[in-house]
Amino acid sequence: MTSLRIEASRPYYCVIDNGISGNVGDYAITASVNATKACIVTDTNVAPLYAQRVIHSLESIKIEAIMVVLPAGEEAKSFDNYQLIISKLATCHFTKDDIIVSLGGGCVGDVATYVAATYMRGIHLIQVPTTLLAMVDSSIGGKCGINLAEGKNLVGTIYQPDYVLTDPLLLKSLPDEQFASGCAEMIKCGLISGQELFELVSTPFTNDSPGLVELISACVKVKAHVIALDEMDMNYRMVLNLGHTFGHAFEKISGYMILHGNAVACGTIMAAYVARYETDDFDEALIDDLRLTFAMFGLPVTIKDCVGREISVLELLDAVAMDKKFRNNQLNLVVPMSVGDVRVIPLTFYQLESFLRKILDSDAI
Ligand SMILES: NC(=O)c1ccc[n+]([C@@H]2O[C@H](COP(=O)([O-])OP(=O)(O)OC[C@H]3O[C@@H](n4cnc5c(N)ncnc54)[C@H](O)[C@@H]3O)[C@@H](O)[C@H]2O)c1
Repeated sequence: MTSLRIEASRPYYCVIDNGISGNVGDYAITASVNATKACIVTDTNVAPLYAQRVIHSLESIKIEAIMVVLPAGEEAKSFDNYQLIISKLATCHFTKDDIIVSLGGGCVGDVATYVAATYMRGIHLIQVPTTLLAMVDSSIGGKCGINLAEGKNLVGTIYQPDYVLTDPLLLKSLPDEQFASGCAEMIKCGLISGQELFELVSTPFTNDSPGLVELISACVKVKAHVIALDEMDMNYRMVLNLGHTFGHAFEKISGYMILHGNAVACGTIMAAYVARYETDDFDEALIDDLRLTFAMFGLPVTIKDCVGREISVLELLDAVAMDKKFRNNQLNLVVPMSVGDVRVIPLTFYQLESFLRKILDSDAI
């Protein structure tokens, strides 16, 4: 078992242990001694696999459990589902002593956390992440939100849970491509952290590797360190966006049909190319290292493999211009210089266009 304290404005523990999802009740009563009810928010894939053990654990300490089962995937993060959950809480007379249990991947986690942040201006929350991506990334740091027809994650806030309970055994049922998607975020953590973690996450591992608790813990530590320095995303937290500016653009271009981690993998290689053109001290070996590492997990390393077709510079520029980090005609792009050296470089729209022309025209990616 690893127990990591996340130093946020409301500090909390992320406990990582095989089987911990069967002990949610014990943590619930520690989080709120007066809790009488818990609402498990989950999705159609996860509910039949794991909801019963969480219900049993809550009921064994006399917390009544109700459940809201959302559609799997991005559909979960809709305004309608947000409203469905808060109406259910109100109808069942949930008070500030009661608890939301988020049981699922990043989609369930984002909407459940937004509910917890806003119902009665904030109620107790326990996150039980069930995807690798949620374990190493989305369950940590409190970012949450829902999608609008106009764009992804346009409504949201930052709200920290009481506990994150991470049970790597739940990954045994996760489809391979979803596991690989989480690996992309772990490789990102390695790039930010340095050689030791990069080597660990570059060595093949699977959902039943014995060292998974330690590997997940090491990645959570990287995110926790960044959160401790900049919980509210004012500056340094931006490094976690490595690979995401181009990644979000690839997701948008594909009509959100590709997995987040696949987009981040290819987006990281794009960012490395920008660093190669823009800076003098770029590590020339990095691009090949990244290609090898991402490819080892079956992640795409070319735009065509990522979005399924060639794309034009204008199409990519148009999609990148939607990035939240694009303000006043300037993009703060996070780029990897070498393993352990990640920087933010400001680019004007015209500089970005010129880099994209060079990169796409050279057929490098
Ligand atoms: N809040 C943050 O800081 C943050 C960070 C990164 C990503 N996100 C968000 O996370 C979302 C993506 O999350 P995700 O990749 O976990 O996707 P997801 O929640 O859609 O889960 C992926 C799929 O796996 C299924 N699944 C989940 N756990 C399973 C298990 N143990 N066994 C079998 N199937 C299982 C789900 O039902 C779903 O079909 C995006 O909406 C993204 O915006 C948020």
